[in-house]
Amino acid sequence: MLRAIDENTITDAAIEQMASTPNPRLKQIMEPLVRHLHAWAREADLTPEEWLEGIKFLTAVGQKCTAFRQEFILLSDTLGMSSLINALHDKRSTEAGTKSSLVGPFYRQDSPAMKLGDTIVTKPSQGLEVVLYGRVTDKAGKAIPNASVEVWQPDETGNYDLQKHDPSEMDLRGHFHTDSDGRYHLRTVAPLGYMIPMDGPVGDMIRAQKRHGYRPAHIHFIVGAPGYREVVTALYLAGDPHVDSDTVFGVTESLVTKVNEKDPASPIPTLPSIKFDFQLAAATAKDMTGRVGADPSQITKAGA
Ligand code: BEZ
Ligand code: FE
Repeated sequence: MLRAIDENTITDAAIEQMASTPNPRLKQIMEPLVRHLHAWAREADLTPEEWLEGIKFLTAVGQKCTAFRQEFILLSDTLGMSSLINALHDKRSTEAGTKSSLVGPFYRQDSPAMKLGDTIVTKPSQGLEVVLYGRVTDKAGKAIPNASVEVWQPDETGNYDLQKHDPSEMDLRGHFHTDSDGRYHLRTVAPLGYMIPMDGPVGDMIRAQKRHGYRPAHIHFIVGAPGYREVVTALYLAGDPHVDSDTVFGVTESLVTKVNEKDPASPIPTLPSIKFDFQLAAATAKDMTGRVGADPSQITKAGA
């Protein structure tokens, strides 16, 4: 039936046409997307020029993406979308575990395998040497032996290896396995906070909004073991000036840690240390990855 299209009836017309979608989950995702997108345009009373400006912006976001740069994830991060997806992912868990945080654009798969106590610092560094240590347990506090603990971070100037060297050279990243008591420890340098990549359209958006663009100092982790939900998270350093105004909303209270000058319980008590125990929830049949992001080269490959 021919219908009169106006600023309200267009929404039902679009949803009715998409009702033929055979994949039920695709249908369930697309219907509310169209409803909310239309409601947004109505609420903002969007003009053709403004919508074209938005399309130009999204085009520039796509054009900025390379094997080493994922501007769409940066957009998702800066709009709070990645954090929202993480919160929904955590809520789906049947057991409590360490909270998720962002993967960010500097994750690289295949980081070097290391032994407990090794340092992830492979280049000369002026940073404060620290020990990271703790346990990986289940929700009852039972040790998870041989859990994988993958770690990556920026250096004491706030730069990742990807921003400094030939991208094939890895620094400040590695993966470890817990001992029979679920314990891990490694040496590194205390990271500094940094600005998100600002040389693309997302940076233009951040400047237009007069936001500072900083992330507080943090260390990324992916922790997992067979039978448990993998947790993608990060530890944030208390005292950082941006710990309560992260541009990408990755900080949550339980992930804020501090550097202890003296900790007799540390495996290397002569060095300052950060202690953090990770808790993994049991995996369920429906669990998929909790990674909002990936090694950027994998994302461009998947889309190719
Ligand atoms: C990061 O943690 O490195 C990061 C996360 C989101 C956006 C930019 C950087
Ligand atoms: Fe980061």
